[in-house]
Amino acid sequence: MALIAILPGDGIGPEVTAEARRVLEALALDLAFEEAAVGGAAYHATGHPLPPATLDLARRADAILFGSVGDPSCDALERHLRPEQAILGLRKELTLFANLRPAKLFAGLEDASALRPEVARAIDLLIVRELNGDVYFGEKGMRTTPTGLRQGYDLMSYDEAEVRRIAVAGFEAARRRRGKLCSVDKANVLETSQLWRDVVVEVSADYDDVALSHMYVDNAAMQLVRNPGQFDVIVTGNLFGDILSDQASMCVGSIGLLPSASLDAEGKGLYEPIHGSAPDIAGQGKANPCAAILSAAMMLRHSLGLPEAADRVEAAVAAALVNHRTADLGGDCSTRTMGDAVLAAL
Ligand code: NAI
Ligand code: MG
Repeated sequence: MALIAILPGDGIGPEVTAEARRVLEALALDLAFEEAAVGGAAYHATGHPLPPATLDLARRADAILFGSVGDPSCDALERHLRPEQAILGLRKELTLFANLRPAKLFAGLEDASALRPEVARAIDLLIVRELNGDVYFGEKGMRTTPTGLRQGYDLMSYDEAEVRRIAVAGFEAARRRRGKLCSVDKANVLETSQLWRDVVVEVSADYDDVALSHMYVDNAAMQLVRNPGQFDVIVTGNLFGDILSDQASMCVGSIGLLPSASLDAEGKGLYEPIHGSAPDIAGQGKANPCAAILSAAMMLRHSLGLPEAADRVEAAVAAALVNHRTADLGGDCSTRTMGDAVLAAL
């Protein structure tokens, strides 16, 4: 029996995770669930956003279903106590370095996309985002300059091993898909990006079957709305991948639709929607649970070896979206009604 850690977190996290869990339970697979607090919820209960018991459960589990963290009542806390440290801590502690973020337009959602229908229809891409390095994990701090000005700093750094393993993840993903990999960097101005580009080119020697291209991140942002159909797999760093994937979400209709998998080298994974805790709609039953449900499908595929079950869940979401929409997609379904629709389709 596989053990699934459920870490609902804050804001809409518990609301959408509950729907994802209902879908997993409906599949009647051999799964056990264990839940633990994380983020602001854990801080309020224990004084720490990632308590030892939660980290221990995450380590013991075969896979982790994560909601979202972020709690405005924690905004004034020191950085190491902020809810967001929980997800950064899990990624680092479990070496979850490869973040897969697929984006594809569901049939019939053309009107929800920010793009023209014929442009949106061509979207079927995967962003492979590095998760263990970059400015999020570099030396950071606040200091005073010699002239008395407050100065904040975050060091952006990557070593070649970090770049190599995410490059391999990008090439492997491209090989399984349409054989195209676009590496996104800012090599014209950043040393980290120059190393990134050099290492990606080195790794490409092992992947003759994958067509590699390079693009600067500012151009990539533009190309994502101009002609997103040109992309198959995008491999990029932590910061650029964070921004480009939120952008990609609006190209397919809503951030409430985009799932993600965060994997280590052995395939252990944490699965979470790409969105945050959405304090503006939390507690109102308005959140779109599809991203969380689709994250559970990615879990079935990548960590539990159940690709048919994953296909079934993805097909059920697609079917449910034909007649049911939450407010972010212009509909009036509640989180629960949307979950019910997916269950009915299943
Ligand atoms: P957000 O993703 O929470 O929300 C951005 C906008 O999208 C909001 O208007 C929200 O209502 C909407 N939205 C997000 N998910 C939705 C869903 N499932 N259905 C319908 N609408 C949805 O990003 P924001 O506002 O920048 O951050 C809020 C908090 O979440 C912050 O504390 C932030 O640090 C945290 N955060 C946590 C993440 C995580 O746990 N992995 C990821 C991103 C942000
Ligand atoms: Mg983000």
